[in-house]
Amino acid sequence: MSAPTSTTRMVRVDLGGRAYDIAIGAQLLDRVGELAAPLLAAPRVVVVSDGTVAPLYGARLAASFKKAGIETGSVTVPPGESSKEFAAFSRLMNDLLDLRPDRKTTLVALGGGVVGDLTGFAAAVLLRGVDFIQVPTTLLAQVDSSVGGKTGINTRHGKNLVGAFYQPRLVVVDTDVLGTLPRRELLSGYAEVAKYGLIDDPAFWDWCEANGAALIAGDAARRAYAIEHSCRAKARIVAADERETTDLRALLNLGHTFGHALEAETGFGPDLLHGEAVGAGMALAFDLSAKLGLCPALDATRVRHHLDAVGLPVRLRGIGGNNRRQWSATKLIDHMRGDKKAEAGRLTFVLARGIGRAFVTREVDAVALRDLLDTAIAA
Ligand SMILES: NC(=O)c1ccc[n+]([C@@H]2O[C@H](COP(=O)([O-])OP(=O)(O)OC[C@H]3O[C@@H](n4cnc5c(N)ncnc54)[C@H](O)[C@@H]3O)[C@@H](O)[C@H]2O)c1
Ligand SMILES: [Zn+2]
Repeated sequence: MSAPTSTTRMVRVDLGGRAYDIAIGAQLLDRVGELAAPLLAAPRVVVVSDGTVAPLYGARLAASFKKAGIETGSVTVPPGESSKEFAAFSRLMNDLLDLRPDRKTTLVALGGGVVGDLTGFAAAVLLRGVDFIQVPTTLLAQVDSSVGGKTGINTRHGKNLVGAFYQPRLVVVDTDVLGTLPRRELLSGYAEVAKYGLIDDPAFWDWCEANGAALIAGDAARRAYAIEHSCRAKARIVAADERETTDLRALLNLGHTFGHALEAETGFGPDLLHGEAVGAGMALAFDLSAKLGLCPALDATRVRHHLDAVGLPVRLRGIGGNNRRQWSATKLIDHMRGDKKAEAGRLTFVLARGIGRAFVTREVDAVALRDLLDTAIAA
C-alpha cells in the first residue's frame, strides 16, 4: 500500500492470511483508488451504494478509481433496511451479473451498515467469492459494522440470519462524510463508540464523557480519534475471536440483548434505530448489573446519564415518537428468547462489574430481569 499521509491513521486487523488495514482520515474518498490499487486482483471494481449515498459521494469515489486506472461499474440499491431482504438481495445479484464481473472483480461497499452487510454477503457468494472493500459512510459502519467480517441479510425469521463471515481486503474511512449524516444516525453510531469504553476500557469511557458532546457537535479531531480508537478495539477483539467461538467477541453485544428486544418490539423501523436501541440496552444492562449487586450503582447512573446527556433515548417512555408504546416485560422477554444469540432458549447477557468490566453470562435471574423491565417501563 502506498505511504499514507501524516493525517491518515492506519489500524491493522490481524487475521493472518486474511489480515487487512483500516485507513482513517479526512478526504480519503479521493484516495480510495490509490489505496486499493495494490490489493486488486485486476483493475476492475463495482461500487454498490444506496440511493442517498450514491448521489453524494459516488462520483468522487469513481473519480478516485479512474485516476488510479481502475475500471468502475456501479449498482445502486434503495436506502434502508429493506435492501437486506432476500428479494432485494436477489435483484442485487442479478444487477451485478448484468455487469459481467469475473472472479478478479472487486466489489466496493459505499454506504452504511446496510450496504456493507449486503455487499459483503454478495461478495462472499458472487461467482463463489470475489474480493470486497468497505467504504463506510455512517458512524455506525465506520466504528462497527465495516470491521470484522460479519456479512448478511434478513429473512422473515429475523435479522442477519443468512450470512457469512467474510473479511474485506481493505476498509477506508473518510471522516468528512459524516458531515452529511443526519444527527440521529450520528448519535446512533455514537452509542457503539461509547460501548467500547464500557466493555473493557474505562479510560476511553472517561474520554467519551469529556468529549462525546463535542464529537457529536462536529469536532473533526475528536471524531477521528474516536473512530480510530473504536476500530482498534474491534480489531483486537475480532483478531482474537474471528467467528465468535468464545465469549470474547460476544462482549461486543453489550446492550444488544435488551436492544434487540426493543428493536423487535418497535418493528426494526424508524421509531428506534439500531444504535439507539443499543444505547438504551446498555443503560438497562448496567441497571441490571447494579440491581444484581454486581456493579456499583454509581457506574450505572453514569452510563445512563452520559447517554441521555448526548441525546440518546435511554428512557423507554421516550421511544417511539408520536406512537407511544405500550411496553410489556413479557413481550420484551419473548423477543429476547427469539434472538439468534439465545442458545437453546437460554438468554445470554453481557453484564458488568463496573464501567470497563463487562462479562458474558447465561445465568440471569428471571425474576430480577422481569422486575427490572417493569421498573424501566414505569419510569
Ligand atoms: N456486520 C456487522 O458487524 C454489523 C454491526 C452492526 C450493525 N450492522 C448492520 O448495519 C445496519 C445498520 O447500519 P447503519 O446504521 O449504518 O444504517 P444504514 O446503512 O441504513 O444508513 C442509515 C441511513 O443513513 C444514510 N447515509 C449513510 N451514509 C450517509 C452519509 N454520509 N450522509 C447522509 N446519509 C447517509 C443511508 O442512506 C441510510 O438512509 C443494520 O442492517 C445492522 O444489522 C452490522
Ligand atoms: Zn450493534
